[in-house]
Amino acid sequence: MDFKNWMLKKVNEVDKYLSNIITNNDNNPQNIIYESMNYSLMSGGKRLRPILLLGAYEIFNSDYEKAMPFACAMEMIHTYSLIHDDLPAMDDDDYRRGNLSNHKKYNEAIAILAGDGLLNKAFEVGLEASMNSGLDCNKTIKALSIIANSSGTEGMIGGQIVDMAGEEKIHNLDDLKYMYSLKTGAIIKSSIEAGAILGGANKEEINALSVYAEKLGIAFQIQDDILDVEGTEELIGKPIGSDEANNKKTYVSYVGLEQAKEHVQKYSDEAIESLIIFGSKANYLIELAKYLTNRDH
Ligand code: IPE
Ligand code: IPE
Ligand code: MG
Ligand code: MG
Ligand code: MG
Repeated sequence: MDFKNWMLKKVNEVDKYLSNIITNNDNNPQNIIYESMNYSLMSGGKRLRPILLLGAYEIFNSDYEKAMPFACAMEMIHTYSLIHDDLPAMDDDDYRRGNLSNHKKYNEAIAILAGDGLLNKAFEVGLEASMNSGLDCNKTIKALSIIANSSGTEGMIGGQIVDMAGEEKIHNLDDLKYMYSLKTGAIIKSSIEAGAILGGANKEEINALSVYAEKLGIAFQIQDDILDVEGTEELIGKPIGSDEANNKKTYVSYVGLEQAKEHVQKYSDEAIESLIIFGSKANYLIELAKYLTNRDH
């Protein structure tokens, strides 16, 4: 199967799996929470983190269906981070994935709780799958531990703190890259590592994939910063110019557009190089890195 079809198939399967997770059979009084969680979860998105998890898993094992709950857990964690990232207390953005952001569609209280609900649901799904997916419990617990850590204070949440602190904590490009490695890189890396662990990778293989994910994470966030400047709202589905409006320190504000683009390419090339030990088995992950370098959304 060529890369484009492989990716399309994965996105469709992830969407289908996600659409069956948050259901409301009882019509209970907290009804609105399911609606608002699904509103953000099912409104599009590239599904990059699930695809990374499944792509890493597939290097080692073809029965990727077993890893699907973990892949979808990553998307729920990611979607929660986007709902909270858009809140007035954070980036104050009114659009996400081409629709009103969660707090604009509902309200701030609902948006906060929908984010909390998605984070919790991710681990409900992951733990349930640890008992019933047929995968070895030692692997699933290790994967969930890495996922939990990457979403927390040493990972995504920590990165969001540094991002919000801005000038106080970011003094140079190294500080900025540190912030990226947490706010964006951490759950990209744990997606890859969880997929590798669940698939049965050994230490050396996990290390190689971790380097891939680290480089890819930085390239991905630089490209996100570039799209905030020269993307189109129709394509990216969120407001452009948000970083400038919030006086955010970004890769573009540090080195300018041209050099930022060169660095996307450089990190993406380095990501691909790190996969050499896998030969053609890593072709989909290689193609994915190339695809992301040229993304317009
Ligand atoms: C946006 O992530 C937030 C960042 C970490 C840069 P994505 O660009 O993956 O957003 P979706 O999931 O496709 O909406
Ligand atoms: C978001 O970074 C990172 C997380 C949500 C953790 P941004 O604030 O740059 O993401 P966008 O541009 O709003 O998607
Ligand atoms: Mg932000
Ligand atoms: Mg934002
Ligand atoms: Mg951004």
